[in-house]
Amino acid sequence: MIYLIILGTMSGLCEGAGVLPDGPLNAPVGGTVMFTTTLTPSDGPFTVVFWKFGIKDIIRYDPTASIPHPDYEGRITFFPSTASLELRDLTLDDGGEYAVNIIPGFLQGDTRLDIYEPVSSATVTPPSLDLVEFNSSARLSCSSSGSVTSYVWMNGSSEVTASDRVHLTDGGSNLTVVNVSRYDQGSYRCRVFNPVSDVISDPVIISVSFGPENVKMTVSPSQNLYKEGSDISLTCSAESRPPSLQFFWFLDGEQLSDTGPELRLMNIQTTQSGNYSCQAFHSKTMRYETSQPSSITVLQKISGPHVTPSDLTIEGNPVNLICDASGSPTARKWMKDGSDLIPNDNIALSDNNRVLSFNTVNRENNGDYLCTISNPVSSSEAKYRMDVMYGPENVRITGKDNVTVSEPIKLICSANSTPSATFTWMLNGTVIPANSPEFSKENAELSDGGIYTCEALNYITDRRSSATFELFVHAGSIQPSGLSAGGIAGIAIVCLIITAAAAGGGYYFYRRKSNLNTDAHPMNNTENKENLYEEISAVYENVKAH
Ligand SMILES: *[C@@H]1O[C@H](CO)[C@@H](O)[C@H](O)[C@H]1NC(C)=O
Ligand SMILES: *[C@@H]1O[C@H](CO)[C@@H](O)[C@H](O)[C@H]1NC(C)=O
Ligand SMILES: *[C@@H]1O[C@H](CO)[C@@H](O)[C@H](O)[C@H]1NC(C)=O
Ligand SMILES: *[C@@H]1O[C@H](CO)[C@@H](O)[C@H](O)[C@H]1NC(C)=O
Ligand SMILES: *[C@@H]1O[C@H](CO)[C@@H](O)[C@H](O)[C@H]1NC(C)=O
Repeated sequence: MIYLIILGTMSGLCEGAGVLPDGPLNAPVGGTVMFTTTLTPSDGPFTVVFWKFGIKDIIRYDPTASIPHPDYEGRITFFPSTASLELRDLTLDDGGEYAVNIIPGFLQGDTRLDIYEPVSSATVTPPSLDLVEFNSSARLSCSSSGSVTSYVWMNGSSEVTASDRVHLTDGGSNLTVVNVSRYDQGSYRCRVFNPVSDVISDPVIISVSFGPENVKMTVSPSQNLYKEGSDISLTCSAESRPPSLQFFWFLDGEQLSDTGPELRLMNIQTTQSGNYSCQAFHSKTMRYETSQPSSITVLQKISGPHVTPSDLTIEGNPVNLICDASGSPTARKWMKDGSDLIPNDNIALSDNNRVLSFNTVNRENNGDYLCTISNPVSSSEAKYRMDVMYGPENVRITGKDNVTVSEPIKLICSANSTPSATFTWMLNGTVIPANSPEFSKENAELSDGGIYTCEALNYITDRRSSATFELFVHAGSIQPSGLSAGGIAGIAIVCLIITAAAAGGGYYFYRRKSNLNTDAHPMNNTENKENLYEEISAVYENVKAH
């Protein structure tokens, strides 16, 4: 015995596993294991070899006889040249300690054999998971038959590693993903191992719904201001899984009856102005998300622009010109006589240029005013002609101030006035009939002389102003011109006749005489007078002929 130990120590073969490699050896149930020694034929020949399993002999070999234990009949093959042993048709009972002793040399070796049931039919439960992001945990469990020594979980083609939110428990057979995210969606498999086999499960699908998020509203055409009557289309989009979403629409926070991803606003009216937003709803995650609002402002086209003065534009009065229109005006601009209107001490603009104010209007303000009234979708202009009302001023009477009886009188009165003045004539302070600016009379009489007054009235300014004029009417002698000496003599004769007739003709005779000198109009009045006239004419013609 002591010899054996010393020998073994010296040869180094007795140490540890000896002539057998380090174990354990692994083999599946039903499989075959080969206990291969480290010896070679040159180490032999061996005279005696014992193989033992625990305390039980497997085989005793010597060159003359090789006797297997009955339990191993047919299941073993011994290799005399290396003292190796093959064991077949393994059962779980074959697992344990194996040893070999060899003579000569007292060589010894031992090792362990582990028998494993091969793993099979790995299954993951549940067969699928339909989860909501950030709301659920995923729990998967792996089971299989056979003697399992380890589990590996596969997420797609990569191995799942444990972390804060990925927990592997029960030796790795359970996988828990806490608070799943969209990125955890995928196919998961479990892979089951033991030293003699491995098997992988069918994939199970973890679906993770999420969203809606990034809810966006697109307005087409895209602008801030729209003309009344425009057609606008609003489209809502969002990201989610699965992609089907419900959409709702809001105007200034109030839900509209419309649903669906597109809201069409046809023939839009100003009352539809406001902030639009859309809301997406996901029936699986039961989550809502609303887009940013988009402001839509509908403007009416400007129409019927007009400039209206606040008061009569009477010189010296304060007046406002007001520029208005229907529609939705946002800007107004004033021009005068084709140039931009520049406010000054007397002229001011207020109420966003709606009102043009004159402290006092005066004639310098006369002109063509143009108010351009606009909004971003239209523009229109209104004209106003300013004629400041003033006067009357500079009332004057023109005409001959010296007339002879029977000569015409023509006096014209004028005044500076807007609107034009109306005139009233007076003689010696008494109103006389006249044709407004003109006072005329065919034949002056002595009584037409006197002080004429013309009073001009501007019925708008309600101002009056007058002028006076002194007219002298002379009872002058008849002095026809352009006649021959004979003619003059004839006229002298006529005059004599006139003088003679004066007793019967009086005033009218005188008048007729005067007409004879100035024009040839037939006279009116009484028959007596007609006759007299004819007589005189005859005389006169006679005189001329001589
Ligand atoms: C789940 O994860 C999200 C994002 O990481 C986080 O905001 C949320 O608070 C988590 N929820 C729970 C219950 O842990
Ligand atoms: C699965 O893989 C994806 C990347 O492919 C990763 O983002 C995700 O976190 C993984 N999930 C788990 C539970 O391993
Ligand atoms: C639309 O929203 C903006 C800011 O979000 C706000 O200033 C504006 O007044 C809103 N418009 C209407 C019509 O409510
Ligand atoms: C979120 O989780 C809770 C508790 O687990 C559950 O009652 C609820 O239905 C889940 N929500 C959704 C939208 O799945
Ligand atoms: C007006 O007055 C003048 C002199 O002052 C007089 O000659 C004339 O007859 C008067 N005429 C009338 C119509 O009163």
